[in-house]
Amino acid sequence: MAKILILYYRRTGNTQKMARAAAEGARTISGVEVEVKYYATPEELTNFDAIIIGIPTYHHDMTVDMKKLFEEAAVKNIDLKDKIGAAFGSYGWSGEAPRLVLEIMKHKFGMDVIESPLLIKYTPDQAGLEKCRKFGREIAERLIPKA
Ligand SMILES: Cc1cc2nc3c(=O)[nH]c(=O)nc-3n(C[C@H](O)[C@H](O)[C@H](O)COP(=O)(O)O)c2cc1C
Repeated sequence: MAKILILYYRRTGNTQKMARAAAEGARTISGVEVEVKYYATPEELTNFDAIIIGIPTYHHDMTVDMKKLFEEAAVKNIDLKDKIGAAFGSYGWSGEAPRLVLEIMKHKFGMDVIESPLLIKYTPDQAGLEKCRKFGREIAERLIPKA
């Protein structure tokens, strides 16, 4: 069974709503197992075929705990090569964080990243949540071999 991790940062809850909707979408595809977490060790990342990171933008940056996770994964030489990587997040006006995450996934870890990140301004409305479901569903579909 193909496995997807949706790892998100929890602060005021907007990105968490996006994470839950993305998981809902991904779970509509059979043959895919979806785990939603707000904490993961670098070693745990190796258990998944696709890693989707939910990250809001604060101070034009990604959050410190996400940087720490990438730092530790790099120090430990965690092999994420060719795994699918994607990112999404809520933002207010600039929304850099998901893009920064994708760059690290691609350039440092050699992951197969999905462009572009999904960005939603502040709290996702119904249309925003539907975009998140579609985002999750489309990533899950990539993991299912075509007949
Ligand atoms: C102190 C602070 C700094 C912020 N800095 C940025 C920023 O640099 N760029 C941006 O697009 N949004 C910024 N925002 C807005 C947040 O990204 C926005 O509120 C988002 O919905 C938070 O998502 P969350 O509920 O998942 O934490 C900032 C918000 C706060 C409170």
